[in-house]
Amino acid sequence: MIKVNSFSSSLEAAHALTRAILYQINISGTKNFHLAISGGTTPVGLFRLWAEDYKNTIPWSRIHLYWVDERCVPPESPDSNYGMTKRVLLDKVTIPIMQIHPIHGEDTPEIEAKRYSFLVENLLIKENLCPVFDCILLGIGTDGHTSSLFTGQNNLLNSPEIYAVSIHPQTRQKRIALTGLPILHAKKVFFYALGKNKSDILKEVIKGNDNYPAGYIVSRIADSELFTDIL
Ligand code: 6PG
Repeated sequence: MIKVNSFSSSLEAAHALTRAILYQINISGTKNFHLAISGGTTPVGLFRLWAEDYKNTIPWSRIHLYWVDERCVPPESPDSNYGMTKRVLLDKVTIPIMQIHPIHGEDTPEIEAKRYSFLVENLLIKENLCPVFDCILLGIGTDGHTSSLFTGQNNLLNSPEIYAVSIHPQTRQKRIALTGLPILHAKKVFFYALGKNKSDILKEVIKGNDNYPAGYIVSRIADSELFTDIL
C-alpha cells in the first residue's frame, strides 16, 4: 500500500517531502545517507527549495547523492538530469565532491550502465546481493513510467542488473535507469508527482496497476509514499 500525502500547492508538497526525507536521515543515525534522486522537471522546484530554505538544515556532509536515471547526453545538455541538479542545487550547497555520483550520460550507455552498477554495488550495503539505498526519490511520467522504466520494459523491472540501458518509446532517447529490484530493496521510496495532467495516471499507480512500471513498484512495496498536489 502506498501512503498518499496530498497538498493544496506544490510548495507545501515540497516542504512535506523534504521533512519526510529529513526524518529518514534522522532515524538512520549518524552514518552516511545514500540518496538516489530523479530528474525531469518535477524536482526542479524541490531542489531550489533545498538550496534556499534547507541550505543549513539538510546535513549535506552525510549525504551521498546518486541518480535514479540519466538521459544519454552530456552534462551541459538541457536534458541532463545531473546538469539540472548541478545548476539548481549542487552549485549552491556544500556536498563533498567525493559524495556526488553522477551518471556519465556522455559515455557509451552500455559501458556506463555497468560502471555505475559496479560503483553502487561497491558503495552500498547489500541485502540478498542487492544494493540498498537509504532513500529513493522517484518521479512518475504521464504514461506511468518511473525511473526510466517504460511500459513494456518488464525485463528491466526484473533485471539482474542494477542499472540498465532503456530507450524512451517516443523519442528513442537512450537512458540509463535504475532497475526494479534495487528500487524494491530500498529502505524508503518516495514518489513525487505534481500537476493535474498526472491525475489519471496517479489513480492507476495508487491502485498498484502493474500495467504501469510505477504501479508495478507500488504494488510490490509495503510502505512507499506519494507526495502530490493533485488528489
Ligand atoms: C527523467 C526522470 C523520470 C521523471 C519522469 C517525470 O529523467 O525523466 O528521472 O523518471 O521522473 O519522467 O518527469 P517530469 O517530472 O518531467 O514530469
